[in-house]
Amino acid sequence: MSREFEFAQLLRAYRKGIISEKTFEQEMALLEGAAGGANGGGFTAMGKTYACERDAIVAYLQRVRNGEAAGAQALARWAEVCQTDCMRSGLRTIAEREAYHVRVIERKLSDLGAQCEAARDPEIDKFVAKQSDPNVSDLDKLRTIVSSFGKPEDIVKPIYEFVDLIKEDLDAKELLALWAEDEYSSLKWFVHAFTALGGTLERPAAPVQMGMSGAAQTH
Ligand SMILES: [Fe+2]
Repeated sequence: MSREFEFAQLLRAYRKGIISEKTFEQEMALLEGAAGGANGGGFTAMGKTYACERDAIVAYLQRVRNGEAAGAQALARWAEVCQTDCMRSGLRTIAEREAYHVRVIERKLSDLGAQCEAARDPEIDKFVAKQSDPNVSDLDKLRTIVSSFGKPEDIVKPIYEFVDLIKEDLDAKELLALWAEDEYSSLKWFVHAFTALGGTLERPAAPVQMGMSGAAQTH
């Protein structure tokens, strides 16, 4: 069945009152997505071209989900062995943020008919092990995170660039914009905690591939 015929069929069903306006719009969006969406020949984001906006969002969410899951795990374990009393609840708060990000992202992936593909990454495993280690100081753990980025606003910038590209799935757009705000808040807190413990901000090293440093996942 040609796409033009499918459009005509949909329009006829809508005009006859067989389908509601909402269903019509949803079906139209699906057909447009199959045709490549607003970008015509594909959807280009993060240096890659996807068949459509939906595929780019799925790929993005799958990657973010894995980083957030690692962040949730690392921070929850760190909070358990944290030696700095005034930091413990901050770590727990951010661990909870990471964990609920995973839950809402998984729900959105499910809405999009996509799987949550958990990927193994030895670098992430190493990071989680270090942040869980009671023999590593809180200052060193904070340095590991803070030294992976320059300014919190630079980390969230690529997230907002991706958000700006989204034209059709406004639900995903809002989800990612709120996620960026949370990440920004978390990153600012890590800088605050690091300097409060006497840490000195230096030039960023290689990015840590985990939830708080969203930029590491979005490049
Ligand atoms: Fe996060």
